Amino acid sequence: MPARIVLGVGAGIAAYKACELLRLLTESGHQVRVVPTPGALRFVGEATWAALSGQPVTASAWDDVHEVAHVRLGREAELVVVAPATADLLARAAAGRSDDLLTAVLLTARCPVVFAPAMHTEMWEHPATRANVATLRARGCLVIDPASGRLTGADSGPGRLPDPAELYAVAVAALARGTAGGGPDLAGRRVVVSAGGTREEIDPVRFIGNWSSGRQGYALARAAAARGAKVSVVSANVGLADPAGAEATHVVSARQLRSAMLAAAAGADAVVMAAAVADFRPEARSDVKIKKTGAAPEPVRLTQNPDILRELAAAREPGQVIAGFAAETDNVLANGRAKLAAKGCDLLVVNQVGPGLALGTGDNEAVVLGADGSETPVPRGPKEALADVVWDLVAARLTAQPG
Ligand code: C5P
Repeated sequence: MPARIVLGVGAGIAAYKACELLRLLTESGHQVRVVPTPGALRFVGEATWAALSGQPVTASAWDDVHEVAHVRLGREAELVVVAPATADLLARAAAGRSDDLLTAVLLTARCPVVFAPAMHTEMWEHPATRANVATLRARGCLVIDPASGRLTGADSGPGRLPDPAELYAVAVAALARGTAGGGPDLAGRRVVVSAGGTREEIDPVRFIGNWSSGRQGYALARAAAARGAKVSVVSANVGLADPAGAEATHVVSARQLRSAMLAAAAGADAVVMAAAVADFRPEARSDVKIKKTGAAPEPVRLTQNPDILRELAAAREPGQVIAGFAAETDNVLANGRAKLAAKGCDLLVVNQVGPGLALGTGDNEAVVLGADGSETPVPRGPKEALADVVWDLVAARLTAQPG
C-alpha cells in the first residue's frame, strides 16, 4: 500500500546513497517528502531531491511558514527514515532539539522512525553517540547499526551506510509493522543467524557445495534488525550485499561455520540455523590440483561434518531459543517432526524442496514445527514473510524471559 514517507537526510557524504533509497521508495509507489538538513544540501542539492521525489524540498522551518510544514509533515508521515543519520543529527534528535525542519518533524512524528547512521568509526563508537543511540532506541526508534567497510578516507570500520536496497527492505518492514501496531519488538535482544551454503574443498580449485543462495538467512537477519534486534549473521558463500543492521562474518566450510556460530551464540537470546550445511566433506583435501591422468579417477572419500544445530541445541544457554531449517523432498511433516526431536531445537522450519521449490528461489512455503507440538503453516510467499513468522514464534518464546 502506498504510504506517506519522510526521508530525512543528514549532512554526510553517504547522502548520495539516499538518492537510490529514494528511487526505490518512489518506484514502489510511496509518496516521499525529502527533508534534508541544511548541511546535507552541501552534499546533494535540492534539485536532485525534488526531481527524484517529484515533491517540493524544504530544509528550513523558515521556508513556506504558512504551511506549518514541521507539524504537517510529521503528523501526516506513516514512516520517517533518516539516512544517513550523522552523529550530530542523532545528538540533536536524542536531545529533542528542533533547530531545523528535520528535527522538528522528528518531534511531531508519531509513526515508526528509522535511523540509519553513517559516520567515521570513532564518532560511532564515541560514548556520546552510544548514549544518544541508546536514548533513541529506548524511545522506540529503530536505529540500524552501520555496516563495516571502507569509509570516506583510506580508513575502514563500522560506519558505512548499508546498501540502499537493504535500507529499503528495512524501511518497508518497519512500515508494515508500524501499521500493524507493532514496534521494534526484538529491541534489546541479540540474535544469531546462519545463512548460505557451505563449501567443502576437494583441492584448491574444486569443492562440494549446494544451491543455497542465502536469501532466506539474509531475510531473517534483515527482519530481526528491522525489529530492533542486534544481529550477527554468519554467512557461507552468499553473493548478496550484507543485510542492513547485521554484523556479518564470512565463512566457507562447515567447520568454519561451526566455530563462528559457537562464538556468536554465546550470550545470544536466539539462534537460527538457516544455512545449508554440508553433511559430509572430503576426508582429505589435496594441496595441489588433482590432475587428469587418463586412468580412472580416484574416488573422493567423504567423512561426516559436525551437526552444528544439534550441538547448539545441546549447549543452549538458559532461555536461549534455537531454531533450524529442514529441507525435505518427501514425507515433509513426518520427517520434520523426527528431525526436530533428533536435533533438540525449539523450532524447525520445514519446507519441501525440489525443482523450483525453496532452495535458491525468492519464495518459500513452509510449516514451522514447535517442540511444544505446535504447527504453524506459512503459505507460499516471499522469504521475508516466512522470516517474520519465525521471529514472531521466537519472540513469543522469549517474552517469558526479561530483555
Ligand atoms: O539434517 P539436516 O541437514 O536436514 O538439518 C538441517 C538443519 O540442520 C538446518 O538448520 C541446518 O542449518 C542444520 N545443520 C547443521 N549442521 C549440519 C547439517 C545441518 O547445523 N552438519
